[in-house]
Amino acid sequence: MFGKLTTTLTAIGLSALLLAAPALAGPIVIKFSHVVAENTPKGQMANKFRDLVKERLGDKVLVEVYPNSQLFGDNKVLEAMLLGDVQMAAPSLSKFSRYTRKLQLYDLPFLFENMDAVDRFQHGPYGQKLLQSVSSKGLIGLGYLHNGLKQLSASKPLRVPADARGLKFRIMSSDVLAAQFKALGATPLKKPFSEVFTLLQTRAIDGQENTWSNIYSKKFYEVQPYITESNHGLLDYMVVTSAEFWNGLPADVRSGLESALREAIAFGNQVAADKAKSDKQKIIDSRRSEIIELTPAERAQWVEVMKPVWKQFEGEIGKELIDAAYGANQAGK
Ligand code: LMR
Repeated sequence: MFGKLTTTLTAIGLSALLLAAPALAGPIVIKFSHVVAENTPKGQMANKFRDLVKERLGDKVLVEVYPNSQLFGDNKVLEAMLLGDVQMAAPSLSKFSRYTRKLQLYDLPFLFENMDAVDRFQHGPYGQKLLQSVSSKGLIGLGYLHNGLKQLSASKPLRVPADARGLKFRIMSSDVLAAQFKALGATPLKKPFSEVFTLLQTRAIDGQENTWSNIYSKKFYEVQPYITESNHGLLDYMVVTSAEFWNGLPADVRSGLESALREAIAFGNQVAADKAKSDKQKIIDSRRSEIIELTPAERAQWVEVMKPVWKQFEGEIGKELIDAAYGANQAGK
C-alpha cells in the first residue's frame, strides 16, 4: 500500500512537472508596442529587431511587434510597461513629460538645424545622460531612434506665422508644443496619434505637425491640402523598457538584445533618412497636397515668433542642456 502511494505521488509529481515544463522551457516574450504604420522608420526598426533576435537568440526570446496602436496608444504604453503588460516601446520624446521634464529639450522649436546636429548631441555626454532621465521612474532608455524634422500641415496655406492665428492644431502630449502653438495665436489640442486622421478629415481640427513619413503613411496629406516645409521641430524616439524586466533577464540574453537593438536602430535611422526624401516625393507626386517652401525671410518670422518658447522652459530643462544641444549645430560647421 505504501508502495502504491509512492507510485501515485510520483505520478502526480511527474505530471505536474510535465505541465509546468512548457512554461519553464518557453521563450521570454517581448511585446513591442508602437503607434505608427509598419512602413515607417519605427515600424521597420521594430520588425528588424524582431528578426535579428530570432536569428541570434533562437528559441530563447520571442519578440512580438504590435504596430498602429493595436495594443496600446500613446498615453497608456508607459503605464502598461511599468505593470509588465508590454516590455518594449519607442514613444516619441515628446511623450515622456509625466516621467521627466528634461526631455522637453527636444521639443524646443528650431533647436536643431538638421539630423547631423541631433546625432552629434545624442552621441555626446549630455545626450547620453538624457537616456537615463527616466530611470528614477523604473524605465530604462536603451537608445534613440530618429524619424526626422516636422512639417506643418493645414487646411489653409501657412506662409507666415499670422496665417496660423485662430487655427486648431493637434499636438503630442507636450507642454512645449502647446506653448509653441499658443505663441502663434493658435489653439493646441493634445490628442493621441491614432485619432489624428479622423480629426483632420472631419475638420474638428485645422492642422497638425509631423514628419514626412507620418504624414504619408497615415494619409494626412489626403485630408490636408497644404503642407509647409518648415522643419521647425524634431520627432525622435527613445526605445524604452522597464528596469524590472530588463534587470531580470539572463546576462547573455540582455547582451544579445542590446546588440540586436543597436543594429536595428542603425537600420531604422537609415530608413528615416531615406523616407524623409521619398515620402515627401510621394506626397508631391500624389498632387493631393501643395507643398509650401518658405523664403528665408518667411522662415525668419517663424523663428522669431516660436523661439521665445525656449525662455519659458529654460528653468525646467536647464540652460546648460539647451546650450549644449544648440551648440551641436555649430560643431558641424
Ligand atoms: C505622433 O504622435 O505624432 C508621433 O509621435 C507618432 C510617432 O510615434 O511617430
